[in-house]
Amino acid sequence: MARPDRLIAVFDSGLGGISVLRELIRQMPCEQFLYFGDSANAPYGSRPTAEVRALTMARIGELMPRGLKAVVVACNTATSAAIDELRLQYPDIVIVGIEPALKLAAERCSGGRIIVMATEVTLREKKFAHLMSQYGASRDILPLPCPELVRFVEKGLLDGPELEDHLRTILAPALRADVGAIVLGCTHFPFLKPVLRRIVGPEVRFFDGSEGTSAQTRRLLSERGALRSEGELSVTLENSLGTAEILDLSARLLDYDY
Ligand code: DGL
Repeated sequence: MARPDRLIAVFDSGLGGISVLRELIRQMPCEQFLYFGDSANAPYGSRPTAEVRALTMARIGELMPRGLKAVVVACNTATSAAIDELRLQYPDIVIVGIEPALKLAAERCSGGRIIVMATEVTLREKKFAHLMSQYGASRDILPLPCPELVRFVEKGLLDGPELEDHLRTILAPALRADVGAIVLGCTHFPFLKPVLRRIVGPEVRFFDGSEGTSAQTRRLLSERGALRSEGELSVTLENSLGTAEILDLSARLLDYDY
């Protein structure tokens, strides 16, 4: 049931969803958030879709007894694989998923190639196919699967020569055209903005779905009379790895400036 005193769960395959949690907090500063990252099973993005769906359903199912009013699937990959099933299974709870911000990029950036950096699952599933059917004919859009990048973030490697070399290698062919925008279609990637900016230069604009996802969550909770308008913010960070290191890294990412 969507009641104000219940929790907003924020789910990701690992630490990436913390980039969405930050925006959720900014837009809803009186809420009680429970962040759960499934780093023990990350990355999800190169697995078969059915496996991603099963993992997502299982992890979110385990959070349900905590008393939730909303679940934010802060993972493009898990959203692509499981959002329909989640909505069917939990009709009384606000369920919001993130998707690559291609619409935003196409609307706000008038020219140049749009690179969509995301996982293989996100780029092959129907949500993204639908976005491409809307914008692919009129714009130069290059979907770029980035299967290795999530591991860097999961290890807390947000900069440094190994990461920079890897990014330069995967981006080189995409950068041969005049690039207007990069869509960060995986929630791990906003943490890499400083190094990406260094590689692509100051003119290229970055877009991600965290603002829209947070606004949508806020809107749906408000419509159901389930938004907390007063009270203290509380944020609980949990992770399937359960180690002090991963919880420490989670807290650091929540404060990381990018
Ligand atoms: N953070 C997830 C996303 O937004 C993907 C990471 C993974 O591959 O596990 O797609």
